[in-house]
This record gives sequence, structure tokens and C-alpha cells, in this order.
Amino acid sequence: MSISKRKLRSAEWFGTADKNGFMYRSWMKNQGIPSHAFDGRPVIGICNTWSELTPCNAHFRKIADHVKRGVYEAGGFPVEFPVFSNGESNLRPTAMLTRNLAAMDVEEAIRGNPIDAVVLLAGCDKTTPALLMGAASCDVPALVVSGGPMLNGKLDGRNIGSGTAVWQLHESLKAGEIDLHQFLSAEAGMSRSAGTCNTMGTASTMACMAEALGVTLPHNAAIPAVDARRYVLAHLSGSRIVEMAQEDLRLSRILTRQAFENAIRANAAIGGSTNAVIHLKAIAGRIGVPLALEDWTRIGRGTPTLVDLMPSGRFLMEEFYYAGGLPAVLRRLGEHGLLPHPGALTINGKTLWDNVREAPCHDDEVIRPLSRPLVPDGGICVLRGNLAPRGAVLKPSAATPALLRHRGRAVVFETLEHYKERIADESLDVDANSVLVLKRCGPRGYPGMAEVGNMGLPPKLLRQGIKDMVRISDARMSGTAYGTVVLHVAPEAAAGGPLAAVRDGDWIELDCEAGRLHLDISDEELAARLAECPAMPAPADGGYRKLYVEHVLQADEGCDLDFLVGCRGHAVPRHSH
Ligand code: FES
Repeated sequence: MSISKRKLRSAEWFGTADKNGFMYRSWMKNQGIPSHAFDGRPVIGICNTWSELTPCNAHFRKIADHVKRGVYEAGGFPVEFPVFSNGESNLRPTAMLTRNLAAMDVEEAIRGNPIDAVVLLAGCDKTTPALLMGAASCDVPALVVSGGPMLNGKLDGRNIGSGTAVWQLHESLKAGEIDLHQFLSAEAGMSRSAGTCNTMGTASTMACMAEALGVTLPHNAAIPAVDARRYVLAHLSGSRIVEMAQEDLRLSRILTRQAFENAIRANAAIGGSTNAVIHLKAIAGRIGVPLALEDWTRIGRGTPTLVDLMPSGRFLMEEFYYAGGLPAVLRRLGEHGLLPHPGALTINGKTLWDNVREAPCHDDEVIRPLSRPLVPDGGICVLRGNLAPRGAVLKPSAATPALLRHRGRAVVFETLEHYKERIADESLDVDANSVLVLKRCGPRGYPGMAEVGNMGLPPKLLRQGIKDMVRISDARMSGTAYGTVVLHVAPEAAAGGPLAAVRDGDWIELDCEAGRLHLDISDEELAARLAECPAMPAPADGGYRKLYVEHVLQADEGCDLDFLVGCRGHAVPRHSH
């Protein structure tokens, strides 16, 4: 057993032979914990987002058990604790509303407890950024163990991807190409094991982002949830975090500007979700690293997308792992000088390049060589213009190339409810060249910034065989979704952004190459229309939602709450005994 020489944070609770030490230890001993657990060994928090209401994380107790084995083996004392689990599939109105609530929970749970270092068990979309945000605000030694993706979905003998299959089958249903029985038969086959969405959706993207940031052991992102190697990785992570506590290897040494630049480049190479733009900004804000939307253009654009995964490509996370996972991608980037900072430190004490320099690639179809990329110019396209003065984003790899430069007349939906009322109206004045505009689905407007930006096309156009149209909103889009979809328009309509002023029939110009999003009306007309737009009423129901709406930042700022940005450290709070 190795016991740290360094005075650990937990000694402030357990390290004294007085009344306070007695109280802290005595109550813990009611769990059957022996005295030697309090002899100065590192106390390792295991921050668990397990919940049966978050099906993607429902196997996390087993993962926690394997982390504990590793912690014990390395001479640490593991303590598992729950935090708010915001699961994407069940939580209404959107799990994004509570990402910051979960981050607050994580931060205060770490700071207020006798924890020297923490293992963050994350999986479903928002749980990864929430845990990293909370831990970053404390700046303790921390690493992430992801839950891993589900096995490939199956329908009629072919692979189907989480989420992506839903969007595709629903469009086919509306177009009359399949019947309800066929639609519903996909349900069980799509989600047939524990784990997160098996496409390169937001959960997989954020797991890759964590690995590219250096806050996980290599291969964390892609090992399937039910693969025994996922549990080996959890075990090894448990051992490693004990060493990190002893080394005082805090997040601020890992989550550097260099690490975020590596992650942005990696996002382009994997064809990652647009949600990463918001989450990386929020995490960076917590650790004090400046990150701008233009960084996504500067670092991400021009990077070839190598990973051929749905929704942009053909394969799923299982194949990605068998092909070599993120280490193989990073190696390919690095060998061509495309890894911005190969020397960035990672949680195992090695550099990112040391971790991946010999990573093999076993399948050039899943992880393409640079000579044959899925998309030559991947990344996230950042747009600006009079319709999005503070920016908007679009994922070119998920879009129709011919629509990336487009001029069309707006068909406007004032709210999501208005869209639902109107979209199936056979008399709706819309054609394939129209631009669908959806308002008041941003962080304040929805509230929580719904994943509805990839609004379904009008059924009458689907029946004509139209598969894609330009869509613009202040909403987000599921990472499993696709289309020529402009998202995250900032400022949002509910915050007085120009999107609020768009009217049916207005001409809108989209030019991805030039990074331009333009509403073709005069400045005077725009100002006059905005002056007439009604102010958003305060939320009537109070509670967390009121706090959120009053303090949430816009998409370009990461949608954190304004008072949560920054690192507040891990100084031990006063005790009250
Ligand atoms: Fe949880 Fe997709 S719904 S990862």
C-alpha cells in the first residue's frame, strides 16, 4: 500500500485526534469502514450519474465497482456519491436546462466533502460537460470514465444508429415510404445493450472530447459499454486517480488552452456534434481558458473528417473501437502535422502524442486515411452577419453540399408550437428553396435551448422526394441528426436578437464558405421591426427555471449561468461542529 507523504485535503476532516476528527470518522464507520481507511491515504470521490431514468448511464454502478477495485489496489479509499443525472431521452423540457444545475451539484459536492481527487462517471450527453464543469470550478485532480456506447442497433439484419435511425424512419413514415408497424419495429433493435448512443452523436462526441482533452485514459471514448475492456479501463482509472491525488495533478494542468485546441481539431476529424461548441466553451470558462467561436474556424476548418460514422457517414461506435478508436485518429492527425499540440499533458502523466504515437488502425474504411477523407474540409462552420451578430454554427459534414451556399425566402415559425401547428398544413407557402426559420428555442426562449433545430420538413415536400432544406434557428440539434441546419443563432430571438425580426417571405442568404448569414433587409427596417418585437415575459413558474432564464449566457458564451463561470478552487470550507 502506498500512502501519500503530501498532506491531503481529506486530512482536514479525518486527520485529527480531536472532537471533529472523531465525528467525521465515526459517522463514516457506520458503513463498516475500518480505522486504517483514515490513515492519510487519498480519499477518491466517484461522482456517479447513475440513474434508471438515464438509461444510457444505468450500468454505472457496475462501472463504479470496477473503479473502486482500482482505487483499493493502489492504496486509496473510494467513496461513491450521486449527483443529478440529466438523461437526454426522458428529461423535459430538455436535459440542457439542467446541465448547469448538475454542474453546481458536482462542484459543491466535491468542495464540501473530504475528497482528494475524483473520478467522474459520465455518459449521456450533458453528463460529461456537467461533471467536467463542476470539477473544473474546484480544480481538483480528476479524470473521466465514460460509460461507453451501446452495441450496434439492428433492424431487418442491417445496422441502425441511435437517434439517426429515428429521424430517418420518421421522415420515411411521413413520406409514406414505410408503415407504422415497420417504424415501431425499430424500437427494440435500436437500443439493445447498456450504453450511450452508438452514433457520433453528442455523447460519443463528448467522450472523444474528454479523451482529446487528455482527461481520460486512452481508448476511453469508444470501448462499448458491455465490452470487458470498459471495466478494465475503469479499474485502471481507479488506480491512476490515486497516483494523481498524490501527484496533485489537477485539472488546470490538463485543461489548458493547448488541450482545447487539440479537442477542436479532433472534433473536426471525428465529424463531432455541434453541441461540442457550447460544451467546450462552458468547460473552458470554468477553468479560465479563453475560447472564441472563431477558434473553431481557425483550428477546426480545413481539417479532414476521417471517421466515417453516422450521422455523417456509414458506421457506428462499435466499428470505431474495433478500428482503433480515437488514438488511431489522433495518430493519423499527428503524423501529418495536424495535431496542434502533441506535447499536451494528459492524466496518465504522458503527453497526448506519447499515448497515440503507436496506435494502430485496423480498418481504413471506418477511420479513413488523410488521402481519402470522408469530408475534405470538416469541422464546424461559424457564421456571422446581420442575422447572427454573435455567431451561429453549421456542421458541413452533415449538410447537403449544394445547399451550403443558398438564397431563399423565409418560412417563419414564431415558436416550436407554431411550427407544429403549421408544418403539415398543405396550404403552407413553401417549396424546396424556402428557408425554414424557427424562433424562441434558444437558451432563454425555450428555456434550455431545445434540440429541435433539425425541424422536420413539410410532409408535402417529403412526398415530392425532398430530403433536405436550409433551416435556421436559435436552437441546438441532436448530435445524431443531420441536414443543412444553421444552429445556435446568437443573440437568440428571446433575447432581442435579429432572428426575432424575420418575417415570412424575407430573403435570407447563407454562404458557408464566406461564413455569412444575412437577412436581406435594410438596417433601418431591421431596427424598426426589432423595436416592435414583444419582450419575453419572465417565467411564471419560478424555481430553478427562473434562476436559469435570468442568468443563462448565450450560445456563443457556452450557455453557462453567468455567476458560475470561473474556477473557485477547492479550499476546505469551515466546519460547523
Ligand atoms: Fe443518452 Fe443519447 S440519449 S447518449
